[in-house]
Amino acid sequence: MIQKYRYGHPFETEAVFMPVKETLGQPNFLTVSGDKALSFSYHMSPNDIVYGLGEANRGINKRGFRYKSFCSDEPSHSEDKESLYGAHNFLLIKGTITFGLFLDYPGLVTFDIGYTHLNELSIEVPDCNLDLYIITGASLLSIVNQFRKLIGPSYIPPYFAFGFGQSRWGYQNTADIKAVADGYQKHNLPLDMIYLDIDYMDHYKDFTINEERFPNFNDFTAEMKERGIHLIPIIDAGVKIEDGYSIYEEGKASGYFCKKEDGSFFTAGVWPGRTHFPDMLNKEAREWFGSKYEFLTLQGIDGFWNDMNEPAMFYSDEGIKDLLSAVFATDLSTASADDILPIRDKISGLSNRLEDYKLFYHNVNGTPIRHDMIHNLYGYNMTRAAYEGLEKIAPKKRFLLFSRSSYIGMHRYGGIWTGDNSSWWSHLLLNIKMMPSLNMCGFLYSGADLGGFSCNATKDLLLRFLAFGIFTPLMRNHSAIGTRNQECYQFEDCEDFKGLLRLRYRLIPYLYSEFIKAALNNTMLFMPLGFLYEDDPIAAHTEDQLLFADGLMLAPVYEQNAIGRHVYLPEDMLYLKFTSENTYEAVPLTKGHHYIEVSLTEVPVFIRKNHFLLLADAANSTSHIDQTTFTLIGEKDASGTLTLYRDDGFSKDYDSPSHYTTIQLADGSLTSSDPALHIIANLY
Ligand code: NOJ
Repeated sequence: MIQKYRYGHPFETEAVFMPVKETLGQPNFLTVSGDKALSFSYHMSPNDIVYGLGEANRGINKRGFRYKSFCSDEPSHSEDKESLYGAHNFLLIKGTITFGLFLDYPGLVTFDIGYTHLNELSIEVPDCNLDLYIITGASLLSIVNQFRKLIGPSYIPPYFAFGFGQSRWGYQNTADIKAVADGYQKHNLPLDMIYLDIDYMDHYKDFTINEERFPNFNDFTAEMKERGIHLIPIIDAGVKIEDGYSIYEEGKASGYFCKKEDGSFFTAGVWPGRTHFPDMLNKEAREWFGSKYEFLTLQGIDGFWNDMNEPAMFYSDEGIKDLLSAVFATDLSTASADDILPIRDKISGLSNRLEDYKLFYHNVNGTPIRHDMIHNLYGYNMTRAAYEGLEKIAPKKRFLLFSRSSYIGMHRYGGIWTGDNSSWWSHLLLNIKMMPSLNMCGFLYSGADLGGFSCNATKDLLLRFLAFGIFTPLMRNHSAIGTRNQECYQFEDCEDFKGLLRLRYRLIPYLYSEFIKAALNNTMLFMPLGFLYEDDPIAAHTEDQLLFADGLMLAPVYEQNAIGRHVYLPEDMLYLKFTSENTYEAVPLTKGHHYIEVSLTEVPVFIRKNHFLLLADAANSTSHIDQTTFTLIGEKDASGTLTLYRDDGFSKDYDSPSHYTTIQLADGSLTSSDPALHIIANLY
């Protein structure tokens, strides 16, 4: 059951897709206080678990910290960080009372989950206009399912987007890109995408190409496609201020950029220097910005990543003026540290200042709305602009599209990557813990920068990151300029990566099928163990193992120099250890605690009772995966059904019955509804 409580006159965020009638009175379970600012509190029992918050720091159980929903360009995801790039105000409390809660408010929200008082959950909103949804149901899964119906269907990318992608900030020209393709293809390592970071643009101007470094871009895109590689360019939020640059000129002439109170355009410094922010909350401006993606689709591009859309700013004109006046007002000959340190703080605080977010306005159906009040909707609407633009450009085709910043609702338009992590082992664990929380909020097409964005990756870290990444729908190795080269072939004995990457490709038809079903049925791909084994306290508190889709459990190794790990099995399972793309060991294991040895090139997977895993033959490109021949792995005495979804990989006719094949195993014999399907069963 979903109950909606309305306070004041909320801003229409369009997060919610399915209208719900308002319930009058005060919400169940929560104590509400305040009138100008609202506060919701809940007394937690010591054993209550609090799930949710999507892209947020720390654990699967969010207890014991304070989180702030305020989309932030936060390049250091250390344990103390309260905000990351997304704002996903969904919580799921499991305990004495089990319920879900979605706070639809587009500005700052603070979630104090046992931070100030160990057993108190308190949610603070500096405003009295919002919608609160309380969701109850028979199980955690049913609550998530209802919530997902409420917020609408998740974005579905094209099939190729399930391939492996290589990215790096700093690929300067076509030769660099070709070297990446060569590096992978020469070593027989699969690859479907190479990402173009800001370096492909002319002076970091959106919807331009640097002709000198990327001449004949059209031909280059075609040449790479011939080699099975899609180029995926980045698009940034800020539009460079430059006379004669058509995007700037058009935006200026139509008044499509965010304005200050005095009617002048707000200016922020980002990669191109001084920029204006397109007003993504203005419908017309959004349509205009979205239509610009055609510049690249006409040149053969079929995927994009939207960046810097919190929106991130390195400085504003106002911030610089403020800093300079503080500098000039200081007499260096007499200044003490007390005078200089505030200047140092001004310098380090120049980026993404809250004061700056209060300086500009959006034109929402003719009403000016100050940015900080709806801050969390900016990246959402940039990606919506792209999605809707692309839908007009090619209505029948799916494009790859994902964003850095997001709010719930954006999951209908694109995926997300989790931003600038580091080449740290703790960030591999953070990646593992974040995936189910993202899925709860509808973000199914998601993943982290595998290997880590900042800092220098070691080979063992990248191998372990990839061993988990082969299950994340978005599987991309991305790194920052100036860090150690991180493409798989840059490491010695790079054949070590082959088994992992090719195993991903063997899994793709299964991953794709499970993904589409999860998107269409509003279910999760990654789940905390406690979602299925609700009454098992060990499972409920396990943070480093995940259920995957309907039938698998994952237990990635995430510690350096580990030769394996402890695993808890909440029920008997078939343990598969992939030792290479084609070989694996299969051992039935009983419920309980086990230690499994897992070398750097191995992948452990657990198959639940009466479930199976389906593997295609290995391939080096999604376009070469044979979708008619499979190996099915399961237990000897298993009986069950698996629905396999297959389509052309880019159309949107998901409901067509021809896409669905039923595979059934009973009494050791296998049947399928598609006579053309060849399945070899390996039962243990
Ligand atoms: C910030 C993004 O998070 C990162 O992935 C990208 O490489 C840089 N911007 C440069 O575009």
